[in-house]
Amino acid sequence: MAKITFDGIEVEVEDGTSILQAARKIGGDIVPPAMCYYSSLKGSGGKCRACLVKVTAGSEKDPRPMPKLVASCITPVQDGMIVENTLNKEVLDTRKAIVEFLLLNHPLDCPICDQAGECDLQNFAFEHGNVSQRYEEDRRVFDKIDIGPYIQLHMTRCILCYRCVYTADQLTNKRVHGVMNRGEASEISTYIAQSIDNNFSGNVIDVCPVGALTDKTFRFANRVWFTKPVNAHRHCDACTGNVVLWYRGEEVLRVTARKNTYNEVEEFICNTCRFEKKSTKDWTIEGPRVIAKSSVISQNHYEQGTLTGESTKNSNKAYKLIDDLPKQPSEPVKLIGIKSV
Ligand code: SF4
Ligand code: FES
Repeated sequence: MAKITFDGIEVEVEDGTSILQAARKIGGDIVPPAMCYYSSLKGSGGKCRACLVKVTAGSEKDPRPMPKLVASCITPVQDGMIVENTLNKEVLDTRKAIVEFLLLNHPLDCPICDQAGECDLQNFAFEHGNVSQRYEEDRRVFDKIDIGPYIQLHMTRCILCYRCVYTADQLTNKRVHGVMNRGEASEISTYIAQSIDNNFSGNVIDVCPVGALTDKTFRFANRVWFTKPVNAHRHCDACTGNVVLWYRGEEVLRVTARKNTYNEVEEFICNTCRFEKKSTKDWTIEGPRVIAKSSVISQNHYEQGTLTGESTKNSNKAYKLIDDLPKQPSEPVKLIGIKSV
């Protein structure tokens, strides 16, 4: 075990744990943001630099500070390590620069982007970015490409986090897409215009932190903050069948996997559940989905919803819903209880 001090708070974790995971063990507002790291995807992290922290003492044996900021998602803890995140001005200033860097080529098309409201980059820029940016050159632009029947790639929005590549590598048996070229010319593409066609391919949509990979069955159907997330399950031979249904009125507009407080999928789901079961009768409804992530998506869902504790724009605090609907009812809940906006 290794004991580290993170933003003045001591925590003990197993050897080999990353600094980011140690911070997540503490939880709350001190946890560094992550745009490319995804705890269930092996090899992820180290691409976006959103999670940079200052190590002011490397270990008990060698208490010298690390000369540069380090990516907390890929740097393992050492016993006696002291790390600063929210307490360190250099870290906070650098994070502003990282937002500016990620937005060099990313279009500011949130008003028409399907990911708006649940976009990690939107939240990251809102919480850590500067109001203005200095970039004056033209942004990279790409044509939108259909990669298979269900997914559209809008490369202009991609931040090259590689999550979709690791997802396809680790979840499907034949990855047909990846990052082509290097440096400024890098882009996500399929090999020789292949389509992504696999029963678990839809998960690349869920792991994409921005609106680069979108669900063609949901594109432009609605703004996410007008929809009602509801936990539901069905018997499925391919996956666990535990999903979130996103309702507008009585209509299921989309089906996604369930995500945790760090916006990471808890259990990956198959394409049949995601794309082909859009009727309430296909599902056993469990009740309203508690939105753990603090963002615009948490707004407007339930008329009686309230916040636990203090709400700040940097808060990761979970929304607790006071609602008539039980979370795990023994009987399926009538959808009449879910009010449309
Ligand atoms: S398409 Fe999305 S998930 Fe894939 S590398 Fe780009 S931003 Fe990341
Ligand atoms: S989350 Fe650590 S570098 Fe991207």
